Amino acid sequence: MDGTTIPLTDPRAGYLALRAEIDAAMRTVLEGPSYILGEHVARFEKEFATYVGMAHGVGMNNGTDAIHLALRALGIGPGDEVITVSHTAVATVAGVGMSGAAPVLADVDPTTCTIDPQEVRKLITGRTKAVVAVHLYGHPADLDALSAICREYGLRLIEDCAQAHGALYHGRMVGSVGDVSTFSFYPTKNLGAIGDAGMVITNDEALAGALRRIRQYGWEQPQCSLQEGWNSRLDPLQAAILSVKLRHLPAATECRRGLAAAYSKALAGLPLVLPPEIPGVEAVYHLYVVRAEDRATRDALLTHLGKNGVRAAVHYPHPVHLQPAYAGRLRTGPMPITEVLAGTVLSLPLFPELTEAGQDQVIRTIKAFHQ
Ligand SMILES: Cc1ncc(COP(=O)(O)O)c(C=O)c1O
Repeated sequence: MDGTTIPLTDPRAGYLALRAEIDAAMRTVLEGPSYILGEHVARFEKEFATYVGMAHGVGMNNGTDAIHLALRALGIGPGDEVITVSHTAVATVAGVGMSGAAPVLADVDPTTCTIDPQEVRKLITGRTKAVVAVHLYGHPADLDALSAICREYGLRLIEDCAQAHGALYHGRMVGSVGDVSTFSFYPTKNLGAIGDAGMVITNDEALAGALRRIRQYGWEQPQCSLQEGWNSRLDPLQAAILSVKLRHLPAATECRRGLAAAYSKALAGLPLVLPPEIPGVEAVYHLYVVRAEDRATRDALLTHLGKNGVRAAVHYPHPVHLQPAYAGRLRTGPMPITEVLAGTVLSLPLFPELTEAGQDQVIRTIKAFHQ
């Protein structure tokens, strides 16, 4: 932060806060014997799987590959359908598409902005093989209802946890409920690398073995592919950095939750819909997203914030089913909620290093807009 502009997020501040530890961890990789996979990757895989409460972690190049290869490892591909949402980072749908399966898009619940289980039910056909639930903005999807539907129809449940490291759903950490879970460690994520990184988490040992093979050409042993594979190895420098940052994740999550509570207290009473706090569910506020009455008001508020040095943003302005690459090409349900959200949501600055003064500036600017 330069004192006048409040960024939406600030991964550099996250590095500077832990600079000595991160620099030391990077040195051990630079001076160590292995620049591909090796002990740092294996250690972080174990640490992160343990943090989520699961047996196996398989590091990947990024969170999109994690979705792609999780589906491949489950045997899902061409001819199959996978139900997910349109109101998400396009990466979710891209990851499904990379597997060869057809993404089928469902509308979201208007309170949590996550996949609506009743809409999922309506989209199931004989070709449906899996549901990818996105814990959007750090808020858990309705995992009980989704698990019940997946059990009833024999579908796999994949949790896209890219935005929700450490979120709790009725005492269970997200990523520990589905058959397999995927994470991104993109720099702005709640647990962020200094570059691209991702992981697949599962309790299924055979699935973990398959994932280890297909992230590296299908190798069990070097130079002999047992099956067709890809190259999606987690970089050891990123793994070493992430091991450091994981130790600080619970404190960072507390900061995010504290900042979110402060926003919700200060903004109550304004004509904005604030993020939900649902009993038994602990969101981790990857983003703090408010909703304006209509598109014109949202756009005017965004402009007003920008003019006053506050970098807000829209997640996401273009529903995936309306983007040129996908429009008319995907099967979808009706999308009334998704299309309203695209026109009304606004993400406010929130990151662990945001100061009280910085947050006050955001709040004052929003209040001034509504006067
Ligand atoms: C919901 C969601 N899923 C998947 C991804 C993909 O992650 P990555 O950017 O690491 O490929 C992201 C991040 O961009 C995301 O926000």
